[in-house]
Amino acid sequence: VSRTYRVERLAKHDRSQFDCGVPELNIYLRKQAGQDQRRRFSVCHLLIDATDGSVAGYYTLTAGSVLLADLPQAITRKLPRYPTVPVARIGRLAVAIAYHGQKLGGLLLYDAVQRVSAANIGVYAVVVDAKDDNAVSFYEHHGFTRFESVSRTLFFEL
Ligand SMILES: CC(C)(COP(=O)(O)OP(=O)(O)OC[C@H]1O[C@@H](n2cnc3c(N)ncnc32)[C@H](O)[C@@H]1OP(=O)(O)O)[C@@H](O)C(=O)NCCC(=O)NCCS
Repeated sequence: VSRTYRVERLAKHDRSQFDCGVPELNIYLRKQAGQDQRRRFSVCHLLIDATDGSVAGYYTLTAGSVLLADLPQAITRKLPRYPTVPVARIGRLAVAIAYHGQKLGGLLLYDAVQRVSAANIGVYAVVVDAKDDNAVSFYEHHGFTRFESVSRTLFFEL
């Protein structure tokens, strides 16, 4: 069966059933994401299964910056000499267990990169803090590059 999905900004969606297999990411979506969004500390984007409206995944986006010195020299050689580089940060990203193995994680990453790239604000790269080595390899698989000096933080140049 081929399903269709849409991405929606978190609103009054029922996310009490969301289970990605990582308790901390489930709890964040259920209890914290709404508050962070109201305070404008992050925006939470939901992947909605159009067949029944259930939440298949989510990611959060936050404005941020990284130290120029933390990026690889091969990249910083081409960049202006400001001490910091503007980035957008994917704080959290998860796909519900029932939807694993359908490339929806990659779809969410692509959506995040497109969304940031389309915003009329200066952002050099999308950055993510991977929660473990498995997550690091997931992001590397999708074209993200590790920082030289900061472990488990990866970036994607827009
Ligand atoms: C990690 C996660 C987002 C992957 O989502 P998914 O939609 O199930 O991913 P898929 O299994 O469909 O894989 C999509 C692609 O990524 C690759 N991939 C998936 N997990 C990977 C990993 N850990 N390392 C390397 N590649 C990986 C797959 O091989 C596949 O590659 P292909 O498109 O070339 O065939 C999902 O398993 C998840 O939400 N896990 C719990 C939360 C979590 O760990 N989040 C990590 C971010 S902090």
